[in-house]
Amino acid sequence: MTMTLWMTLVIALLLLILVFIVIGTLHSGISPMPSSKKAYQAMETMADQTGNTPLVDLGSGWGNLALRLAKRYPDRQVYGYEVSWIPFLFSVMMKKLLKLDNLTLARQDFFTADWPDNATLLCYLFPGAMQRVADVLKQDKTSVDYVICNNFALPGHQPEQSMQIQDFYRSPIYFYRLASITSS
Ligand SMILES: C[S@@+](CC[C@H](N)C(=O)[O-])C[C@H]1O[C@@H](n2cnc3c(N)ncnc32)[C@H](O)[C@@H]1O
Repeated sequence: MTMTLWMTLVIALLLLILVFIVIGTLHSGISPMPSSKKAYQAMETMADQTGNTPLVDLGSGWGNLALRLAKRYPDRQVYGYEVSWIPFLFSVMMKKLLKLDNLTLARQDFFTADWPDNATLLCYLFPGAMQRVADVLKQDKTSVDYVICNNFALPGHQPEQSMQIQDFYRSPIYFYRLASITSS
């Protein structure tokens, strides 16, 4: 094969990947942009305060946060739900490479998933999705113990802690201990 043909194939593949990512973004309402390193560190400090609860990354993107959490807490179950195919497949590949048996990844809309009992939710979403998460929590169908949010607050709830980190966006990070808590 000539060099030009190879180049054309690579560009076509990259364009296809880009198209899939754009479709995923339009479908979910947010791109798979990962949290910043400082945001991860802040969220992990908060996750340290959530006992042995299962950790659920709502919209796990490329898997950066879910993979970090599964490595940090080998004795805890970590779940990641993601609708966008390319980031999801990448995260599954990384999970296999890193042999993280305590991490479960699903290509699924997290609003249709059964979250584990007494979960700690981790969210880096957008205001509309945070409102929907708050609505689900109100319905009492789930038992969520804690919610940790990057950037966008959980409407109708008072955070127990909040901090502004020194990343590019000066992101606020929120920690909620929900009133219905049954374990810690
Ligand atoms: C900004 S990224 C956050 C990635 C990762 N949680 C992090 O903090 O690095 C948000 C991800 O949520 C996904 N997402 C948004 N709504 C979703 C839904 N209802 N179900 C599953 N994934 C969703 C998007 O596709 C996107 O990849």
